[in-house]
Amino acid sequence: MSILITGGTGYIGSHTCVELLNSGYEIVVLDNLSNSRKDSLDRIKRITGKDIKFYHSDLLNKGDLHTIFSENNIDAVIHFAGLKAVGESVNVPLHYYENNITGTLNLLEVMEKFGVYRMVFSSSATVYGTQEKVPLSEDLPLQATNPYGRTKLMIEEILRDVTIANRNWSIALLRYFNPVGAHPSGTIGEDPNGIPNNLVPYISQVAIGKLSELKVYGNDYNTHDGTGVRDYIHVVDLASGHLKALEKIMRSTGINAYNLGTGRGYSVLEVIQTFEKVSGKLIPYKITRRRPGDIAISYADSSKAEKELNWSAQKNLLEMCADSWRWQIQNPNGYESKEPEYSSKLILN
Ligand code: NAD
Ligand code: UD1
Repeated sequence: MSILITGGTGYIGSHTCVELLNSGYEIVVLDNLSNSRKDSLDRIKRITGKDIKFYHSDLLNKGDLHTIFSENNIDAVIHFAGLKAVGESVNVPLHYYENNITGTLNLLEVMEKFGVYRMVFSSSATVYGTQEKVPLSEDLPLQATNPYGRTKLMIEEILRDVTIANRNWSIALLRYFNPVGAHPSGTIGEDPNGIPNNLVPYISQVAIGKLSELKVYGNDYNTHDGTGVRDYIHVVDLASGHLKALEKIMRSTGINAYNLGTGRGYSVLEVIQTFEKVSGKLIPYKITRRRPGDIAISYADSSKAEKELNWSAQKNLLEMCADSWRWQIQNPNGYESKEPEYSSKLILN
């Protein structure tokens, strides 16, 4: 079976490629490399021993999409490609709408032309916006608070509409909570451009000495220690959720949303402590003002994925931090680090 992975050289895409190849799928990757590097494909090959057919191409180029579907017998698409920085999306909304929405429309049009009706889509817990209660379940009313979130919400609606119009479609909307960690080999991982926005990559760069201290955005939230609580999920667990979703859409039609989270929330201070434990490094931090747009607490009710996909997250926060740290020390400059630099500094207990 041949699966097209849009955005397959990116963080979550690359980990999903590994899981798919290890499970015997043939894959074709499309990526414009706007937020990733081709080196990730060599690293995936190093882990799996398998080659990947790669198209350096853009979803905005419909002609390229046509070529890809003509040259390959695609059975289903896992659609990761998109821009994902919340702050940037506020500054350049049109760019986000064009890239994420027009890109998806092009993809859907070409899929329909070639009779490919199966898709797993990367949505986000951001579609829940601010809610009164946790855990967050799939049937809550949806809302978005920024252009990035609105692209996810709009794409979910578009996918619902195409499924109503044509009953051949089979679509899984995967709402990720907070993906962190890296492949346990330390060969692939998250390689953010510039200064990271997200907590774990930031802590990781403080631990290795690239950044001097972490700013903790607020300790006056209504949480057990006052800092924000999130449902961190290991990227390898997330990747395995895509395999389960793929199996589901191959045996049914219609559209379904699934939360992919652990169902457990951790505070910023708990993440810092766990990272200090696995790295043996002190993480200097300073409490600052809340980050605009942040919510106090978010974690998933993942029972629907457990019941309908037979999936649940297996890895705990210690493993998430240990694997992030392994990736960081083996690749201090991300994929620019030529060969992984193996180090004995990792403490894994
Ligand atoms: P990423 O930036 O590492 O991967 C996305 C990939 O898509 C990149 O390799 C980028 O080059 C590619 N891309 C972007 N626009 C493209 C286009 N027009 N044509 C072709 N390729 C294009 O991000 P990620 O963390 O792996 O996220 C994957 C998906 O999951 C995204 O849709 C993101 O919005 C969603 N998501 C991510 C998170 C997270 O915290 N990482 C959380 C929720 C949802
Ligand atoms: C952010 C995005 C969200 C996206 C998610 C996963 C915003 C407002 N939200 O969510 O849309 O889906 O990433 O990519 O950007 N924190 C610090 N110091 C830091 C960084 C973070 O204290 O330097 C805190 C935050 O306040 C939060 C927690 O750490 O409480 C997690 O932050 P982050 O990793 O950015 O994820 P989200 O805020 O959940």
